[in-house]
Amino acid sequence: MKLVAGNSNRPLAEAISAYLNVPLAKCQVKRFADMEVFVEIQENVRGEDVFVVQSTSFPANDHLMELLIIIDALRRSSARRITAVIPYFGYARQDRKPGPRTPISAKLVANLITNAGADRVLTLDLHAGQIQGFFDIPTDNLFGAPVMVRDIKERMDNSNRMVVSPDVGGVVRARALAKRIDAPLAIVDKRRERPGESEVMNIIGDVSGRSCILLDDIVDSGGTLVNAADALLANGAKEVYAYITHGVLSGGAVSRIANSKLKELVITDSIMPTEAVKVAHNIRVIPIAPLIGEAIGRTATESSVSSLFD
Ligand code: R5P
Repeated sequence: MKLVAGNSNRPLAEAISAYLNVPLAKCQVKRFADMEVFVEIQENVRGEDVFVVQSTSFPANDHLMELLIIIDALRRSSARRITAVIPYFGYARQDRKPGPRTPISAKLVANLITNAGADRVLTLDLHAGQIQGFFDIPTDNLFGAPVMVRDIKERMDNSNRMVVSPDVGGVVRARALAKRIDAPLAIVDKRRERPGESEVMNIIGDVSGRSCILLDDIVDSGGTLVNAADALLANGAKEVYAYITHGVLSGGAVSRIANSKLKELVITDSIMPTEAVKVAHNIRVIPIAPLIGEAIGRTATESSVSSLFD
């Protein structure tokens, strides 16, 4: 078994390598002067079961291209099996046609990864579960929920917790968490007229006096979270926490969250945290390497990955 890392999240790849006690394979991912990507695998991978760790996070196109070119290099080096380990799968929000003459970019990206030569995909909290079906190769979609449940149980008193879905699309995910921590569920009725701008219309459920836990897959501009937190507090919530798998945190998101009424935002390191994230007073990062490392180990030994969902 070999582990190969792209440049998107080297600390996560190193943590996975430490978890598995498998060193990262020698591999150089460089740029030509015109920024074309060049990859050189510097050790023999012939006949190996290879796992390529690369999130397609910002800059998404560069990181996607790196992933594709690493897979191509491995295929041409006669690797036996190539698994694309994509802790954060970018382009996932483009999973349907929002209007006429628009693309389904998540499907295009799935095709690119497959055609580059991946045999399997291992990813985490896909924006929509059905994106799994965009791949015609085996795809495991891990859930961050068990890691979050552990953290919530360790840190929060269970008497007045309430799980809140920040939009109608996230209800299934939020209901599953509510069930795991034995808490009631509320729903924010969010509207989005333009990308990056969200507005809360209503709160469905009685949140008064509750410690609310907003659960989502992605925090990008932070607008969804900050608006939801304001609305929950205006409706009598005692405090608001958020657990989000992927901290995309574009533009001014970190300062928007730091200046918000959110008590704490907890994210995983599926995307490499920036310095601003690390020093923000109300953002905490929990490690995802043990979950991904365990799933890689199980894939390599052909054992069950689904038991990790419990
Ligand atoms: C949307 O469906 C997603 O689950 C997130 O709620 C959204 O991507 C968050 O975006 P932002 O932080 O920009 O409001």
